[in-house]
Amino acid sequence: MTERGGPADAAAAKQGGRRKEDRLRAGIVRVAAVGDFHCGEEDVGRYREAFARVNDDADVLLLAGDLTRRGTPAEFRVVAGELADVRIPILTVLGNHDHESHEAEAGMAILRERGVHLLDGEPFELTPQVGFAGVKGFIGGFGRWTLTAFGEAETKQIVGTTLDEVQRLEFALRRLSTPIRVVLLHYSPIADTVMGEPEQIFAFLGNDRLVEPVDRFKAAAVFHGHAHHGTFSGTTPGGVPVFNVSHVLLKATGNGEMYFLYDIPVPTDAEMANAAEATPMGAGAGADG
Ligand SMILES: [Fe+2]
Ligand SMILES: [Fe+2]
Repeated sequence: MTERGGPADAAAAKQGGRRKEDRLRAGIVRVAAVGDFHCGEEDVGRYREAFARVNDDADVLLLAGDLTRRGTPAEFRVVAGELADVRIPILTVLGNHDHESHEAEAGMAILRERGVHLLDGEPFELTPQVGFAGVKGFIGGFGRWTLTAFGEAETKQIVGTTLDEVQRLEFALRRLSTPIRVVLLHYSPIADTVMGEPEQIFAFLGNDRLVEPVDRFKAAAVFHGHAHHGTFSGTTPGGVPVFNVSHVLLKATGNGEMYFLYDIPVPTDAEMANAAEATPMGAGAGADG
């Protein structure tokens, strides 16, 4: 595991124990992340057992959008059923497929009833140390080929939609009071993790304007989906690790049968207490003297 975090390997998973308390003692928050499993109405029961295992495997489950095929309420009900046995917090963003039927609001109501937290600009603090911010993101492309707000009103609207997403991610990151911030997107914030897809469609797979708040807030990691045949991992210009957790890609690359597990190192209680003692005026130095 690197200083910033790293994939949870099998040995470490066993050594760290299966219980959340053991991992916390070892200074680890373990994230499970997957996107693009695209539930249809015929998929009832297809993923339920696999998702149930996440209770032992991780402390939080991140869903990177495209939970459904066409975003109908019936499909969202299937998703809720597949997640029925998950007891750890579930955080999600929606994908383009989840918007296809213009029923995303109804779909989210179904998932909220199941206890799923939509990270659409609404941050989530898992512990006092680790928080999550997410938005769907949008299209536009990467680098010098990024779509710019020039010409027709429709083109400006596309760029404006992307910039709105960037701004909402920035606000969500700012609202987190945790020292460690993790980002969840559907679209890719870097070109590296869409490599493998046809170059002609790169502009529809993500937009690197999303990377600016990620780097400025020094996120611990980014998880996204959408580019089913892209590349599993990459890095932002600021050095933040980015993972494409599309379900088919995870399986194809051997990075997870149902989800990818990633360990985020967090200060232990003892380290927090030491840090507080070492800071005479520190906010945490107080109660016990
Ligand atoms: Fe997808
Ligand atoms: Fe997608």
